[in-house]
Amino acid sequence: MSFISKIKELAKKSAKLNSSLRTKYVIILWITAVAILTAVTFAVTLNVRTYYRSYFARITAEVFTDTDIQAALSACLSAENPPELMYDVLIAYSGKLGVDGERRTFFILDENGAIVLSNAKDGNLVGKYDFQRRVIGPYTILLRDDRTLAGEMSESITSITVKSGLVVISVASVLIFGIAHAVTAPIEEMTRTAIKIAKGDYSDKVKVRSRDEIGRLGRAFNYMAKQLRRTIERLERSEEAQRVLIADVSHELKTPLTSVTAYTETMLTSEVPPEAQLEFLRITLSEARRMTRIIGRLLELSRFDSGKVSLDVSYIDINEVCEKAVSAIKIQLQKKEQRLTLSCGEIPKIKGDAERILQVVLNLLSNASKYTPQGGKILLTTNYRADIKHVQLSVRDNGEGISEVDLPHVFERFYRADKARTSENASTGLGLSVTKEIVTLHGGDISAVSKHGKGSLFTVSLPVGEK
Ligand SMILES: Nc1ncnc2c1ncn2[C@@H]1O[C@H](COP(=O)(O)OP(=O)(O)O)[C@@H](O)[C@H]1O
Ligand SMILES: [Mg+2]
Repeated sequence: MSFISKIKELAKKSAKLNSSLRTKYVIILWITAVAILTAVTFAVTLNVRTYYRSYFARITAEVFTDTDIQAALSACLSAENPPELMYDVLIAYSGKLGVDGERRTFFILDENGAIVLSNAKDGNLVGKYDFQRRVIGPYTILLRDDRTLAGEMSESITSITVKSGLVVISVASVLIFGIAHAVTAPIEEMTRTAIKIAKGDYSDKVKVRSRDEIGRLGRAFNYMAKQLRRTIERLERSEEAQRVLIADVSHELKTPLTSVTAYTETMLTSEVPPEAQLEFLRITLSEARRMTRIIGRLLELSRFDSGKVSLDVSYIDINEVCEKAVSAIKIQLQKKEQRLTLSCGEIPKIKGDAERILQVVLNLLSNASKYTPQGGKILLTTNYRADIKHVQLSVRDNGEGISEVDLPHVFERFYRADKARTSENASTGLGLSVTKEIVTLHGGDISAVSKHGKGSLFTVSLPVGEK
């Protein structure tokens, strides 16, 4: 098995041993540090030995080429016993040669290679030694170095390296543990929060402490949780709205159905005079029409809800639409002797669906007429708000008005301020809901101000699209 695959195996085992990132980081650090330390120690030892050997060679060469020692040694040859003189010369230069008689010694050999004189206690020429040689006449001078100094130097360097390495590893381990903790703590927090969210508890948020990748992840996590909560709340709301709507619809249809059933049953089971029969039939028809109206509006609203209503958009003149509405509602107003004044401002054309906007104006005018007594006054105005680039149309009446309690709810489905008059005035409580949907679809806004007994003012504001 190769070294790398062994390391891989070890990493796998350690990952299984402890699945925390912290431990993994520290193990990786240790492996890296041990590898670096080994390499450094090996390189230093090798370099120290090589350097020491070359240093030994250089010193020897320098000293021997020195003219004084050269001359002194050569002069020995003419003496009676050259080796003895040479011995003295070498002892005299022992400082320069680094000869200490222990680690570094010298030998003087004769022409046959036999040791004549030496300052070494042993006569070993074979073993773990470095040698430098110099030939003087028939004699050979051998300098022997036992390498122990190089060994000691390598050892002490190795020991320093290992010691400082261990200190560095310990400090780095603590640091990396801290860093790993800083990295993993938010992740652990996210895991806890995610589990809570999965259980339906959205109360917790991940604390974002940094602007780095982890910080961004935290922010993205919080954003996701927020969106999720919103979606779920929306779903819950729409579910609730649906429940309320079903209840409302059932309730709204129950009243007319009950009266239709009661009148027809009476006509079928008992003797009813012909005039009364006629009256019963009229009521039945009126109730049936009412139900048709409710269902028609509900269908329309459900199409708005499902986004199936598309506008037939063109550039339209709101003043023209208002004129159309006024002539369409004339008869209804005449019946109640109400006076309608149309005051057209100078307004730009807007992008919109003429039919739908007509429906809006008619709904508002019909409400104004319906909730204003005989002989009342209604004012339809158009104007342009250049500052917000909106065309505004408003319907003002001097009728019964809407109380403070009811005003915020008039745009809600089936909401009627005066619940008692439900069936007699053909009220469904859906007209303003539809109106609001149409205005919203145009990107506009509708609002109402009113005081009970003092009349109402409904204002529609529609944006002017760029041409
Ligand atoms: N011009 C108005 N003056 C007084 N009350 C109004 C006016 N317009 C609307 N309302 C109140 O708002 C309610 C909701 O209006 P709307 O949605 O058109 O339903 P509907 O007219 O069928 O009752 C009405 O029942 C009425 O109480
Ligand atoms: Mg209405």
